[in-house]
Amino acid sequence: MELTYYGQSCFDVVIKGKKILFDPFITPNPLAKNIDIEKIEADFIFVSHGHGDHIADCVAIAQRTNALVVSSYEVINWLEQQGLKNTHSMNTGGCHLFEFGNVKCVVAHHSSSMPDGTYGGNPLGFVFMTEERNFYYSGDTALTLDMQLIPRLTNLNFSILPIGDNYTMNVEDAIHAAEFVKCHVVIGVHYNTFELIKIDTEKAQEDFRAAGKTLLLPAIGETIAL
Ligand code: NI
Ligand code: MN
Repeated sequence: MELTYYGQSCFDVVIKGKKILFDPFITPNPLAKNIDIEKIEADFIFVSHGHGDHIADCVAIAQRTNALVVSSYEVINWLEQQGLKNTHSMNTGGCHLFEFGNVKCVVAHHSSSMPDGTYGGNPLGFVFMTEERNFYYSGDTALTLDMQLIPRLTNLNFSILPIGDNYTMNVEDAIHAAEFVKCHVVIGVHYNTFELIKIDTEKAQEDFRAAGKTLLLPAIGETIAL
């Protein structure tokens, strides 16, 4: 499976030929100035919660690609008010079979409001269970004991976890999270975009190595095989 990173918590994967984009936040991100959102294709867009750094380019990309947008009930209501029609709402604990495989929404300990202040419902994490790979994208979250439930669902091949601290888990927490979900390969996101979430990336990778795990930090625009 290929994963392309677009900065902050935005990335896409291709499963069964379907392009699945997560948390589109590109045009407001100076670090992602070389990414042209007009060139991003998507069949599905998964949005973990309503904060601007996860949703800024969602409407524009969804309107151009007609991707199916999946998020919480409240985020979807708001996106529909912005004009989106091809949508699918879910909530914590719910699972749904899409064309590419199953997705279960799991607990994220965070908050969720829309850019205009509208209530955004529960923030979500997503567990993807597909014929190609199984993976966990936690969204913005603290370390939670609930993560220990995920290995009961599936054996993960990799996890996408925030590591930037201040608003979410830090590196140390993400190592514990990797232990909780029984997955040794982590793609770190939600770091370095803002002053408050700047981290020492070399030390982060060393800390993961010392814990017997791998922290992958693809460059913005880079595609990695998993
Ligand atoms: Ni957030
Ligand atoms: Mn965020």
